Amino acid sequence: MATTIVSVINQKGGTGKTTTTINLGSALQKLGKRVLLIDLDPQANLSYSLGITEPACTLADVFGGQQKLETCIQERNGLYVAPGSNELVDVEISLVTHESRERFLQQLLGEVEGFDYILIDCPPSLSLLTVNALAASDEVLIPLQMEVLTLQGLGQILNTVQQIKNALNPKLKVKGIVVVMYDKRRKLSTEIEDYLKENVDEYIFQQRIRLNVKLAEAPSFGQSVIDYDASSYGAKDYLGLAREFVSVS
Ligand SMILES: Nc1ncnc2c1ncn2[C@@H]1O[C@H](COP(=O)(O)OP(=O)(O)OP(=O)(O)O)[C@@H](O)[C@H]1O
Ligand SMILES: [Mg+2]
Repeated sequence: MATTIVSVINQKGGTGKTTTTINLGSALQKLGKRVLLIDLDPQANLSYSLGITEPACTLADVFGGQQKLETCIQERNGLYVAPGSNELVDVEISLVTHESRERFLQQLLGEVEGFDYILIDCPPSLSLLTVNALAASDEVLIPLQMEVLTLQGLGQILNTVQQIKNALNPKLKVKGIVVVMYDKRRKLSTEIEDYLKENVDEYIFQQRIRLNVKLAEAPSFGQSVIDYDASSYGAKDYLGLAREFVSVS
């Protein structure tokens, strides 16, 4: 089985990376795909949002060589999760002096079999952990809010992807940009929409993720929005995104 590894990145905080990783992952699983989520963020929001609060084994243990990745993976409602933890901060520091510091995650994921998709929830920085994610990935998915300040950041992200592609991972490509927390009543959005159309049109997914309170509520119940409320806009939008995601190459 060919596995596609996708990094969900945006160096700006709170732009919907974790929400997108969980709910796109859950939507892909509902479409019959086997999906593994990697919580590479020391904040461990993804693990927490899926009800994994005190995992016996986390990615930090795997990076540290105390545990095998396979034994760390947990199943939650049909989704597979490799939990993160705050100790990933220490991992990052210790990686700096490591010989293959950029390729650690790539080596770990190379041993994992049986998944259609591996989605990596990255921290809000272009740190060594994120570089590891990009070096290990086939594709990049960028959740983007329609705000002027995020446009400058977008250029930076695309630049970083290009640099990693040149230096570490020639196969890396941008899968797409997904507009999240979309509110079509806000005038600003139209201006930005025009900007995106002119500059990165080919990357933008048709399916947008609307602002929807169910998306913010679901983590308190340890569920994806699709398991929490399948009739919500959040569930519909992420299912639509998943269908588009599997159809574009
Ligand atoms: N479409 C949406 N509608 C409403 N709330 C949303 C939506 N998407 C995300 N949120 C909420 O916005 C907040 C930030 O989202 P999220 O945690 O996914 O961002 P992030 O990029 O992972 O943040 P960080 O950079 O800290 O890792 C969360 O409280 C989340 O529940
Ligand atoms: Mg996050």
